Amino acid sequence: MVEPLKVGLAGLGTVGSAVVRMLANSRDLLALRAGRPIELAAFCSKDPPKDKGIDLGKARKVADPVALAKDSGIDVLVELMGGEGDPAKSTVEAALGMGRPVITANKALIAKHGVSLARLAEKNGATLAFEAAVAGGIPVIKTLREGLGGAKISRVYGILNGTCNYILTRMQKESRSFADCLKEAQRLGYAEADPTFDIGGFDTAHKIAILTSLAFGTEVDAEAVHVEGIETISLADLESADQLGYRVKLLGVAQRTETGIEQRVHPTMVPKGSVIAEVDGVLNAVAIDSDAADLTLVGPGAGGPATSSAVVADLVDLACGRRSPPFGRPAANLLKPKRAPMQRHEGGYYIRLAAVDRPGTMATIAKGMAGEKISLESIVQRHPGPRPHGGDDPKSAEGPAPVILITYATTEDAVRRALAAVEREGVLAEKPQVIRIEKS
Ligand code: HSE
Repeated sequence: MVEPLKVGLAGLGTVGSAVVRMLANSRDLLALRAGRPIELAAFCSKDPPKDKGIDLGKARKVADPVALAKDSGIDVLVELMGGEGDPAKSTVEAALGMGRPVITANKALIAKHGVSLARLAEKNGATLAFEAAVAGGIPVIKTLREGLGGAKISRVYGILNGTCNYILTRMQKESRSFADCLKEAQRLGYAEADPTFDIGGFDTAHKIAILTSLAFGTEVDAEAVHVEGIETISLADLESADQLGYRVKLLGVAQRTETGIEQRVHPTMVPKGSVIAEVDGVLNAVAIDSDAADLTLVGPGAGGPATSSAVVADLVDLACGRRSPPFGRPAANLLKPKRAPMQRHEGGYYIRLAAVDRPGTMATIAKGMAGEKISLESIVQRHPGPRPHGGDDPKSAEGPAPVILITYATTEDAVRRALAAVEREGVLAEKPQVIRIEKS
């Protein structure tokens, strides 16, 4: 009789409950794929299971996650508690420290402590796997680590947060407010417990930091990610983007440039018709550019069934002895990343200005751009919106006029300096809105 792989599961939230269900429902299939049964031996949970319908069978309840990590009745610890600190960190360290394999979906933990955990795993001959930490059901870790093992990667970018993509999609398609769409995403259970993690771009930043390491063979450097969220995106931006042939997405981008590796998260304009632009709702997408192939993976980035499938895939690898270094090469061989400063970022820009509606304003804006040698692809001035005091007489109306600029490729520095110069001339009624354009 072949010995089963005995699983200790820490965390019975949405993903943990879905893992229990998948291990039970696909027991025979998994045993065939893994060459031996995979069984839940013990679990630990501070709350009752999220899904009351799950059957925990004969699994033992262990009160403390660190005790579970060290429990002699398990072969592998599956950490699904989340959070970059304790108890997740001490639990994972306890298991790896005694040479016990760990499978986790914890993007914050891997983004912040991935390299030290990989070193600890290697030192003790343990496996550390985290397919579920990035883009849920999309097998992007394996794609970068094994599938593209022979390719030289130049850029990885994508929609890595379903909550933000859901909000931006609903706002654009239904002309609804940001606040309204966020409430709906929370009601549907997409958002993190603290939605600032989603909408502020921090969840995406953790994920792109992990992908950067895998793509470029560098130590994870989450501190280097330039992060902007979607809070400032207005319906006016989404409508202008639509009219100009773009969609707005929150992208995580990691790119090799002449100045180093750029890691950035920000709302981004992508051309309508590109694969990324058409990925709507809660779906995620990851595009990879390499010397061998450019490809885009699209799929569910969150939720029980998708994320548990990634956790169980790591369990199958472990059960049948397939092993990879966590970041695709021994931790000692990971390179120190050279950070590319955001001011040196090069690309096209969308700029929305609220311009004071009087003669000479356009000339002032054009002069500011020309002063930084910024070439404009298009410039559109719209009719001012309803004026505060009503009336049609332009002389009595001081309401600002929206001016939309699309630039050809320029640098972040040049755009910031040009806008500061225009602001100094007193022709803007509000802070400029700037959205970077990503070539796809
Ligand atoms: N809150 C995340 C999202 C869940 O919306 O994509 C998966 O990390």
